[in-house]
Amino acid sequence: MPLLSLTPFVDAKIILFKRINEKIGFLSVILIFAKNRVKTQSYMLQLHDLTFIPFISSAEIEESIKKLAQKISVDYKEKIPVFLGVLNGAYQFTAALTQFYPGDCEVEFTKLKSYEGTSSTGTIQSLIGVDNLKGKDVIVVEDIVDTGNTISEIIKILEKEAVASYKIATLCYKPVAYKKSHKIDYIGLEIPNKFIVGYGLDYDGLGRNLPEIYQLK
Ligand code: IMP
Ligand code: MG
Repeated sequence: MPLLSLTPFVDAKIILFKRINEKIGFLSVILIFAKNRVKTQSYMLQLHDLTFIPFISSAEIEESIKKLAQKISVDYKEKIPVFLGVLNGAYQFTAALTQFYPGDCEVEFTKLKSYEGTSSTGTIQSLIGVDNLKGKDVIVVEDIVDTGNTISEIIKILEKEAVASYKIATLCYKPVAYKKSHKIDYIGLEIPNKFIVGYGLDYDGLGRNLPEIYQLK
């Protein structure tokens, strides 16, 4: 008799447990979904009106720069090259390349501007000129060679300066976009014709400080 009278109470408890379990199950599904969304979003980068996704990791960038520094040092073992960084874009690449360079070298900078937003304007403005390069073995250090207009302009400047020799080193190179015939001597990473940011490269002033490279989504 006492057992019988307990049955409805036990049943009610079981139903209550089931409901709580269903609710917890539903809640955990929502939590997993939200967590994944945050994870996906954290891999995206918003700069002004554009969204970018990861493209080249900082480890890959560093590896390619170390290889370039090594290769250049073999070619210049009898010389003291002047690394001529092209501001603003090549500031990170110039710093890393010269840090990994296992020999004596000099470092200079020049500042040119050709890009507005996500495309080349075709006209190059010289904002800081070169100085002190006469008779020197110059290695131009570019963040990226795209159409090649900037490099052509720099070559004209170096020829006027009567440097002893010059070569071009670039972290990134877009072969499909390149319109000039001058050989690019040292290439870190060959990339498709996509707009990228990070590691010195910007979109309207933003993204230069990133340690890795992102591409337009
Ligand atoms: P070029 O004169 O067309 O070869 O372009 C060279 C300059 O344009 C580079 O030094 C960069 O500053 C800029 N540039 C070219 N492509 C990109 C890109 O994908 N992202 C950001 N800047 C770029
Ligand atoms: Mg540049």
